[in-house]
Amino acid sequence: MGRSPARRPVGAITRGTTGHNRLRRSDRWLAAVHGGRLRAAVRPLVVDLGYGASHTTTLELFTRLRQVAPGVEVVGIEIDPARVARAKPYERKGLTFRLGGFELPVARPPTLVRAFNVLRQYEEGEAWRYWDVLRGGLAPGGVLVEGTSSENGRRAVWAGVSGEGPVTITFSARFDAFERPSDLADRLPKTLIHRNVPGERIHTFLRDFDHAWAVSAPYGAHGRRQRWLAAVRVLAASWPVPLSPPLGGPARWRLGELTLPWTAVDPR
Ligand SMILES: C[S@@+](CC[C@H](N)C(=O)[O-])C[C@H]1O[C@@H](n2cnc3c(N)ncnc32)[C@H](O)[C@@H]1O
Repeated sequence: MGRSPARRPVGAITRGTTGHNRLRRSDRWLAAVHGGRLRAAVRPLVVDLGYGASHTTTLELFTRLRQVAPGVEVVGIEIDPARVARAKPYERKGLTFRLGGFELPVARPPTLVRAFNVLRQYEEGEAWRYWDVLRGGLAPGGVLVEGTSSENGRRAVWAGVSGEGPVTITFSARFDAFERPSDLADRLPKTLIHRNVPGERIHTFLRDFDHAWAVSAPYGAHGRRQRWLAAVRVLAASWPVPLSPPLGGPARWRLGELTLPWTAVDPR
């Protein structure tokens, strides 16, 4: 993968829908789970790929990551030149915007690439292929975080992909934004959304999560947060739920989050 600006960015211009705090849930996870990785890196570079019609979510990512890794530099990359021109006035020290695509026209390999609500507009086969392209361009020990959210960001699912391949999947929802956990299925990454059918692991997992949610109903008397915590403990009896930080444990679950190893849902 080249590091110099490609003559024509790789990919296609798609809808630019975005909004304030849409990606807050994943920003929070990134800061907590991968902040140490950014602090440990020499000149850590973060790419926000496909930031959309406004600079907003890239600026929010920059602000939140700077709180945990003050030396971090963030580059927002967009394939639509008009969206790059619109974001440019918001550049500042450590935050820039540029034209590009999956080839990632940056000066050095990024420690973190965040791509949200981008691959959902591609075909499933392309999503797998671009995961490979993007992970191939990471700095050693780097991570790609690729996911999908609802328009207001209250439901989201994302995958963590290392240079070797996918490592984690995270489900995240505001407690008033779902009836049952499988409501998050419509936000699965493109690599999984077509696999939510009987016989596939992701389908079995969401079915079991719904069951755990149902049997934890008595905890609902203390609020949906307590019910979610109870449901995660039920699930942990039969699924490899990480139980301690940074990926697991009550401090994460109480945010309406659950992270699993990717192998638990891998469709391949
Ligand atoms: C739906 S918006 C998502 C905006 C923001 N990431 C969010 O989640 O709110 C998707 C954006 O990705 C851009 N895009 C699609 N393919 C791309 C690529 N290969 N490289 C860079 N940007 C891309 C589109 O032009 C569009 O602006």
